[in-house]
Amino acid sequence: MCGIVGYIGTISRPVNLVIDVLKRLEYRGYDSWGLSSITCDKRLNFIREIGKISELSNDTVIDHMNADAAIVIGHTRWATHGKVTSENAHPQLSNDFKIAIVHNGVIENHEEIRNKLMEIGYDFHSETDTEVIVNLLQNKYVLLKNFKKAVIATVNELKGAYGIAIACCSIPHRLYIAKMSSPLSICDYDGGFLVSSDPNVCDAKEAIILEDGDIAELSYDKVDIFNKNAEVVKRDSILIEPYEEFKNNEYPNYMIKEIFEQPDALRNLMRGRLVDDAVTLDATRDLGWVERIKITACGSSWYAGLIGQYYFEKIASIPTSVEYASEYRYKDPIIEDNTLLIPISQSGETADTIAAIKMAKDKGIGTCAVVNTVGSAISRMCDSGIYLRAGREYGVAATKSFSNQLLALLLLAISFANLKKKPLDESLLSDIKQLPDVVSDTLGQINDKIKDIALKYYQSPNFLYIGRLLEYPIALEGALKLKEISYIHAEGMPAAELKHGPIALITDEMPTVVVATQSSALHKTENNVQEIKARGGKIISITKDDTAIAEISDYNIKIPYLNDILCPLISVIPMQLLAYHIALLRGHDVDKPRNLAKSVTVE
Ligand code: AGP
Repeated sequence: MCGIVGYIGTISRPVNLVIDVLKRLEYRGYDSWGLSSITCDKRLNFIREIGKISELSNDTVIDHMNADAAIVIGHTRWATHGKVTSENAHPQLSNDFKIAIVHNGVIENHEEIRNKLMEIGYDFHSETDTEVIVNLLQNKYVLLKNFKKAVIATVNELKGAYGIAIACCSIPHRLYIAKMSSPLSICDYDGGFLVSSDPNVCDAKEAIILEDGDIAELSYDKVDIFNKNAEVVKRDSILIEPYEEFKNNEYPNYMIKEIFEQPDALRNLMRGRLVDDAVTLDATRDLGWVERIKITACGSSWYAGLIGQYYFEKIASIPTSVEYASEYRYKDPIIEDNTLLIPISQSGETADTIAAIKMAKDKGIGTCAVVNTVGSAISRMCDSGIYLRAGREYGVAATKSFSNQLLALLLLAISFANLKKKPLDESLLSDIKQLPDVVSDTLGQINDKIKDIALKYYQSPNFLYIGRLLEYPIALEGALKLKEISYIHAEGMPAAELKHGPIALITDEMPTVVVATQSSALHKTENNVQEIKARGGKIISITKDDTAIAEISDYNIKIPYLNDILCPLISVIPMQLLAYHIALLRGHDVDKPRNLAKSVTVE
């Protein structure tokens, strides 16, 4: 899930442009980066470095490159094959140093191709799967003497996922790209064309989105798109949202900014959808036929799905199940009639979720997406959907997008209940309207207390998180947030599961976060807390009532009293803040934690 970019055209200093776009693509991977340029006099330059290009000034990079070039390609990496080294960074070059390639994806038959090429004398200088593509291309070009034909022949031998951009110094006036699964788009840009993994970072009004199997040949003023049989194909443009530069002059980093943006993000989501005392959603207009729901997602979005399941069953009485997209897509599931698939995704580009949707659509299942990124692959491939309107999320750890996912699923459940003429809890809609203010108050009230708790436990090697009913997924989310940004091992589970094994981990050094806001399960949760205390365990509890739990906890965070159904939208906040403050105390980059990326575009 790397970010690739390429420019062909006549602007001066195109290397500058490509560096700027690469910095915007860093959310896709940031362990190393590289550029290659082809000058009009057929010279190929390249640079590959470990680390984040965003930490360098453009001039530092340009000093190493010839700023003026006809073609420039660039890459920011999330390692799939081969350690984080400059040899394994992209662009990868052919043995004859004439062809450069940048790649996002995974070539599954790279071993086989590498062995064939080594038998005929090709050397390999990296551990990447990508290097086989560029050497295979050199080999085809030698045999076919026509670069376009060589590109097509090469692509036809590849298995797996790829978004690739190719530049060859023998042909300084052509840029070649190809796509399979990984996203790739083309935008008109200032006397040329800009290709990229994400059209939203290109400051363009429109973009051509390539489809699986597409190959394109770009010159300064023309784009030809064709399929693997060299047949010309037509691709429509889509409108692109103006790029929302990340501005952050108030907060020390984006994660805390996005945590404090949650009240406004929730208001944006409600606007025009919760009016007076009615929920109106375009997404459900034609969904009266739905009798079953399948939710599919990954990571935090999957946890949001578990809460959605509760909402659809409790509020709309629709039987619902939740599937990990990566498992669902391979298990050839039995899908009953009148089942609706609801994929949930912040980025809208998660490869496993896209594959699960394709599988379900091939079985003729209707789809309604819950997505944040406008114009993303998942939003384009589903029959209907609801945009989260959380605004762009920069921090890799999902925060405001997660809260908006919960509210979007709640509004969807209410909309289905209306469709099915199910009576609603009277106060529910007015309680929902209070949410942004309650979130805002909670943020103000608990942040300092959480800092104290973080100071106490930031050196703890392990954490447990427990909850019941709607708070079990919040326990999972809390554990994930901590793992993602503080690198502390943490496990979330249903509170009752503790005594079926994990309670063996309890010592006076093991902090357990207990999320206890579900009135109907409070006494049972209290028993679990007693069991932990009986073994010397440390308790950090989140409660809304004056319960015994608060009294026996080592630390208690009191959140405002709310309807059980809405509590996850509040109890997730101490989860986010605890992970955040612990990660800060451990000196980590909370926006770009190690080994992660904001959009997971490979399986
Ligand atoms: C959450 O903090 C993580 N960034 C990750 O688990 C994420 O939720 C997962 O990769 C799914 O991403 P999506 O919502 O963009 O599909």
